[in-house]
Amino acid sequence: MVKIFSHPLIDAKLTKLRDKNTSNNEFRQNLDEITSLMVYEMLRDYKTKPLVVETPIGHFFEGQQLDKEIVIIPILRAGLGMVNGILNLIPQARVGHIGMYRDEETKQVFEYFYKIPEVSKDSYIIVVDPMLATGGSAFHTIKKLKNDGFLNIKLLCLLGVDRGINKISSEFPDVDIYLATKDKELNENDYIVPGLGDAGDRIFGTKK
Ligand code: PRP
Ligand code: URA
Repeated sequence: MVKIFSHPLIDAKLTKLRDKNTSNNEFRQNLDEITSLMVYEMLRDYKTKPLVVETPIGHFFEGQQLDKEIVIIPILRAGLGMVNGILNLIPQARVGHIGMYRDEETKQVFEYFYKIPEVSKDSYIIVVDPMLATGGSAFHTIKKLKNDGFLNIKLLCLLGVDRGINKISSEFPDVDIYLATKDKELNENDYIVPGLGDAGDRIFGTKK
């Protein structure tokens, strides 16, 4: 399943991210906010389980708590920019990290870090990365998580293009993909067009 969010707040904040004049600080802030809006909607069908609490006036109330443990997996570096937006809503979520980078010449993906919390294999795993371009980084991440036995993986990105979306959907039909929007194409350097540039650089201010 591929779900593309359509919401005026997301669209307006995304436009801010695309603007080359947006500062690193504003970029991070808007990315945080979009991620919160997306994850709020993404978890709409998430199952809860009963939790009984006693209210201050001595009554017992059967309410709800989240059913499964939630683990956020940012693909380093740029995925880090989406972690706080989820933690703001789900502070108890755990965070695993996977370090991947795309070689600028060959576009091949290299893994340099992998540390995932020790949780049940049916935990709710949310892989986050702003960009789904060729799909190589997401593919390697999901493959690794599946090899580790994780059963319930979702992919949350801001921008995606057909090439990356089709790669993930065909290789992992059980992995739902959530996007803020779908962009037109990739350029000759496999950058998303119109896109927002290099997400990692814009979050961390590594290049002008
Ligand atoms: C970017 C981005 C994704 C990847 C997407 O990361 O954050 O991880 O490229 O491209 P793909 O779908 O073709 O794999 P990059 O490799 O530039 O590393 P960085 O986050 O450290 O800048
Ligand atoms: N990675 C980025 O950061 N931006 C793109 O447009 C494609 C891959």
